[in-house]
Amino acid sequence: MPGSPPPALAMNPLRAVKGMNDVLPDESSRWQRIEGAFVRTMALHSFREVRTPFVEPTPLFVRTLGEATDVVAKEMYSFVHHDEPLTLRPEGTAGAARAYVQHSVHNSEPVSRWYYVGPMFRAERPQRGRYRQFSQAGAEIFGDPGPACDAEMIDMLVGFFRHIGIADSRVEINSLGTGGARERYKEALVAYLAPKVDALSEESRRRLETNPLRILDSKSPRDIEVIREAPMFQDALDADDVEHFDGVRRCLDALGTPYTVQPRLVRGLDYYTRTLFEIKGATDKLGAGDTLVGGGRYDGMITELGGPSVPAIGFAAGLERLLIASDSAQTAEGARVDAFVATLGEAAAAYALVLARELRQAGISCEVDARKSSLKAQLRRANSVGARFALIVGDVEVAEGSVQVKDLAAQLQEKVSRSHAVAAVRAQLGLEGAPKAPLEAVPPKELS
Ligand code: HAM
Repeated sequence: MPGSPPPALAMNPLRAVKGMNDVLPDESSRWQRIEGAFVRTMALHSFREVRTPFVEPTPLFVRTLGEATDVVAKEMYSFVHHDEPLTLRPEGTAGAARAYVQHSVHNSEPVSRWYYVGPMFRAERPQRGRYRQFSQAGAEIFGDPGPACDAEMIDMLVGFFRHIGIADSRVEINSLGTGGARERYKEALVAYLAPKVDALSEESRRRLETNPLRILDSKSPRDIEVIREAPMFQDALDADDVEHFDGVRRCLDALGTPYTVQPRLVRGLDYYTRTLFEIKGATDKLGAGDTLVGGGRYDGMITELGGPSVPAIGFAAGLERLLIASDSAQTAEGARVDAFVATLGEAAAAYALVLARELRQAGISCEVDARKSSLKAQLRRANSVGARFALIVGDVEVAEGSVQVKDLAAQLQEKVSRSHAVAAVRAQLGLEGAPKAPLEAVPPKELS
């Protein structure tokens, strides 16, 4: 029969891909609140939005994130289309930098402050706070090498967190230095670890060959024991790197922004230089995925992508993690609409549609109910969507050109003329520019 599903599909209803979640309307209002607060924070700090494609050429990520990183080696959704290797973006920095170079943005302004909000894809093992499709709110600054810029970014994030009800965040910072220092440190670390290879976990033994810095990040108790005495990054830094890091700390101190220097902080992507930071939330809420934000400087990426020498710094926050960590009371849903138009009888539906359009044009949000259900059922719906007023229209109102306006909180009802209905609701809602003159009220009339 046309339109009926094949038997296999009918028996196994289709579900979303593992690790990729639906956000239903009840939840999406919390998302919108956090995204809205983020966008306002960005505007206050002079960032503008960039939108880059969800799919990029695979070599973009291999070259910038690093071939041996977990993200590139194990977690990318890659495919070949018409002989072109493509990848669903696992993060936003590489695409933003690619766009910056491709459009020669450095020619039009010395400093670019960009932000983005959107989905990223990593084939990780799903668990609380870790998904295969997740959303990042991130920002990148191109063209400012100074430590003040790093401190301002960290302070902005702490302020944003407080604003969305995350008071217990912890900032950790470190400096990886520039390329030379990193290579020197890597050599010193390998020289220290090589004789102790048998004491390391299997994963770290592999990493000793491919990406030794990541061993510092290991959660394995065996590795933690071994790296306790490992050489410190700070000892490998150049004088310029030390001065830069001291500058970041001085600015954070001046701002009164609390932070901890975490000398073993390395992070999982290869592009970082100098300042590195993470902001963590409460572990009891987030478990192992307690990193809300990761960020840092990547002064070499623009040249790596064929652009001029332009320093850069950025961060990305996982929105799902922010939602878990933030105080739900502060982001709970409020009223959905100002008004609810209930209809009774055949003629009322069209009358109500015209009324609703006028209400909306006057800035009053509303829902119309033309389901032909009872007034009781419609008023129940009005309450459930949080409407302050129900505007009730039946055959009598249509015939005489009036509307029953019911204040649902005060349980007061009055009939007003159709021509005054919109102004009456605007005035009661206290909307600017509403006429001050009292409206003629007629005694409440019961509608069946
Ligand atoms: P990242 O540390 O890979 O850095 O990710 C940043 C944040 O995205 C994490 O702290 C976490 O909140 C969230 N996140 C990452 N993976 C997942 C996942 N599988 N599920 C849920 N949330 C996740 C970056 O992506 C860099 N691009 C940050 C950056 C921007 N550095 C410089 N500029």
